[in-house]
Amino acid sequence: MVLLIFVLIVLIAVLLFLVFVSLIFRKEVKATFERDPAAVSLFEVLLTYSGLHAIICHRISHKLLKLGVPFLPRFISQIARFLTGIEIHPGAQIGEGLFIDHGMGVVIGETSVIGNNVTLFQGVTLGGTGKERGKRHPTLGNNIVVGTGAKVLGNVKIGDNVQIGANAVVINDVPPNSTVVGVPGRVVKKEGRKIPGISLDHTSLPDPITQMLDRLQGEIDHIEQEIKDYHRKRSAEDKNEI
Ligand SMILES: CC(C)(COP(=O)(O)OP(=O)(O)OC[C@H]1O[C@@H](n2cnc3c(N)ncnc32)[C@H](O)[C@@H]1OP(=O)(O)O)[C@@H](O)C(=O)NCCC(=O)NCCS
Repeated sequence: MVLLIFVLIVLIAVLLFLVFVSLIFRKEVKATFERDPAAVSLFEVLLTYSGLHAIICHRISHKLLKLGVPFLPRFISQIARFLTGIEIHPGAQIGEGLFIDHGMGVVIGETSVIGNNVTLFQGVTLGGTGKERGKRHPTLGNNIVVGTGAKVLGNVKIGDNVQIGANAVVINDVPPNSTVVGVPGRVVKKEGRKIPGISLDHTSLPDPITQMLDRLQGEIDHIEQEIKDYHRKRSAEDKNEI
């Protein structure tokens, strides 16, 4: 009987905790339902979505860091990394409605700033280039999707409503309402229109050495022709003199 009451109390405590979490993080929970068709129940989202767990841990570690608590923020961030595979530095500033899908391998650097309603897929890095100090991580606006494996490096600004393609490496600012793909990242769509003149056909990229050899061959052909013309002219002149 005592055991039954104990189990009941634990269950009620867990349920109350889940309700509390879902209320505090309602924007993130809502984002999960909106952006992941696989999300079916609140219970499942709260218990099994590692992206949500990483964000909850980050909110706590970020608050503690702002309060000036030493060590603990970083420790919480590392525990979260161990449990979820997502590393968010406590110093990162993150807006509402962040959704990290699948999560594993996501890294968000210390001076990153993320706006509202941003989606990050697995393997995304918001990192530094290794050459900068101070603000050295990206600033993302609102309503941005960063595709799986994409890297956004340095103190760059990504405008609102931008889509970053899977595996892109973005090292320059990106204007709002655009799509950027490739390595290094190039804007291929702006305001819904394709940007002409950018070839994404990586199998036929120009080879600079072949181009240089072609140019040299052309110059040699030209010089040979000039010498032949000169000799032809000279022999004609000699014949005339005789
Ligand atoms: C970039 C992306 C967001 C599509 O954006 P979009 O604005 O609809 O762009 P389009 O599909 O019209 O593609 C525009 C051009 O970029 C190319 N492109 C699209 N995604 C690309 C990528 N990741 N890498 C390289 N090129 C890409 C397209 O082939 C197209 O080229 P074309 O103009 O020569 O035909 C999408 O392709 C993407 O990469 N999403 C990430 C999704 C993801 O990570 N899912 C993981 C689920 S687990």
